[in-house]
Amino acid sequence: MSSTVVVSPSSGLRGTVALPADKSIAHRAAIVAALAPGTSRIEAFSGAADPQSTLSCLRQLGIPIKQEDSTVRITGQPLQPASEPLDCGNSGTTMRLLAGVLAGQPFASILTGDASLSKRPMERIARPLRAMGAQLHLTEGHAPVHITGRPLRGITYELPVASAQVKSCILLAGLFAQGDTVVIEPVPTRDHTERMLGLRVERIGDKRYIFLPEGLTPEPLNMRLPRDFSAAAFFLVAGSIVPDSELLLPGVGLNPTRSALLEVLQEMGADISIEHRRTENHEPVGDLRVRTASLRGIEIGGSRIPNLIDEIPVLAVAAALAEGTTHIRDAAELRVKETDRLRAMALNLQQLGVRVEELNDGLIIHGGRSLQGGEVESFDDHRIAMAMGVAALRAQAPVTIRGAEAVRISFPSFWQELARVKGTELPGSG
Ligand code: S3P
Repeated sequence: MSSTVVVSPSSGLRGTVALPADKSIAHRAAIVAALAPGTSRIEAFSGAADPQSTLSCLRQLGIPIKQEDSTVRITGQPLQPASEPLDCGNSGTTMRLLAGVLAGQPFASILTGDASLSKRPMERIARPLRAMGAQLHLTEGHAPVHITGRPLRGITYELPVASAQVKSCILLAGLFAQGDTVVIEPVPTRDHTERMLGLRVERIGDKRYIFLPEGLTPEPLNMRLPRDFSAAAFFLVAGSIVPDSELLLPGVGLNPTRSALLEVLQEMGADISIEHRRTENHEPVGDLRVRTASLRGIEIGGSRIPNLIDEIPVLAVAAALAEGTTHIRDAAELRVKETDRLRAMALNLQQLGVRVEELNDGLIIHGGRSLQGGEVESFDDHRIAMAMGVAALRAQAPVTIRGAEAVRISFPSFWQELARVKGTELPGSG
C-alpha cells in the first residue's frame, strides 16, 4: 500500500538521532554466523526489511535464529534445502550474497525478489560463479536465480564493475570451493566481508587483491553492529542545510570505504566533527556532530564514487542548496539500484524548481537558496524517499512525498526521527 507523507519546512533541527544498525554489516554478520560452527550473538540488529529478508532466507535454509529485541542469536550448521523459493524482497545484497553461498551447497535453490529486485542485473554474479563451476539459470539476466549446487573450484577474478556485492558473492562461494579464491578490485568497494572473515588484503600496483584460502571456516561472532553511515547521511545533510541546526549522531560506522560523503560534505563547507573515534569488531566507529553551514558546489567522480554510492541521492539535495554548480560523474551504477536513482533525483529536484541536467553517468545540479514546495515520488526506493524528506526541510512550502513507506527497507523510523529533531509531530500522512 502506498502512503504519502507531507513534510513542512524547518527553521532548525536539534537533538540526538537514533539511527538503525548498519545494513551492509548486518547481512554479512547473519550469513557468516549461519556458516560458523557454534552460536553467534549479534547485538543492535535492525528490524528494517532488508536485513530481515536475509534472516528469513536463512531460516528457510534451516538455520536456527532467535531474535529478542535487537539481539539476534544464530546457530551455524549445515544448510538444508528450502522447500519454497527464497524471497529476498527488495534486497540485492541478500540475493547476491546468498547466491554465492548456495552455489556450493549439495542441493538446489531458487532466489526470488520483488518487482524492483527482479529487474536488477544478476549476470554480474552468474559469470564468476559459473567460472567456479556453479550451475545457475537466470531469466534474461535477472531473478529468479535458479541454482543447482555443485562442487566449486577457487578462481582469481578481477571485478569488471566496482561492486561489493559481487565481490562478497565470490568470496562466500570461495568458502565452499576447492583451491584458493582471489578477488582483484581495480576500484576499492566496501570491505566489510574481508574484515569480518579476517582475509589477507594486499595493494599491488593500483589494485586491491583479496585472498581467501581454501578450507577457511568462519568463527562464530559476538558483536554489536555500528549505526549505519548510509542512514546518518540523511541527517548530516539535513543538519547542514537547515538554518540554526545542531544534531548528534552517536555510534556511526566510519569505514573509509563507506564514509566518503563525510569528506565531500566537508569540502563543500559542512561543519561536521567526529567525536570518540574507536574501533569495534574491526570497524571504525565514532559520534558525529553536524551544525548548519553554507555549502558550495563540488565536482566528484572516479574512485570516490563507490565509497559514497548510496549517499548520492542525498548529496544531490545538498548540491541543490549549495552555492554554485555540482558535477557528479562516473555514477552510472545508480541506474541499476532499487530504482534508476539518477532519473529519480533529476525528476524530483526539477519538481521542486531545481535546474538539474541528467547525464548518462551522473548529474549536473545548479544550486540555489531554497526549493519550491510540491509533490515528489519515492519510486519505491527508500533512499529517494528519505533524500526528498530532507529536501523538503528547505522548501518554501510543504512537500508531499508519495510512496513514503519505502523507508521501511533500511530505516523504518525515519519519518519519526525527522519529526522529532524538527520538534514537530509526525509529518502529515495518508
Ligand atoms: C552493498 C553494496 C553496494 C550498495 C548496496 C549495499 C553491500 O552495492 O549500493 O546498497 O552491502 O555490499 P554494489 O554491489 O553495487 O557495491
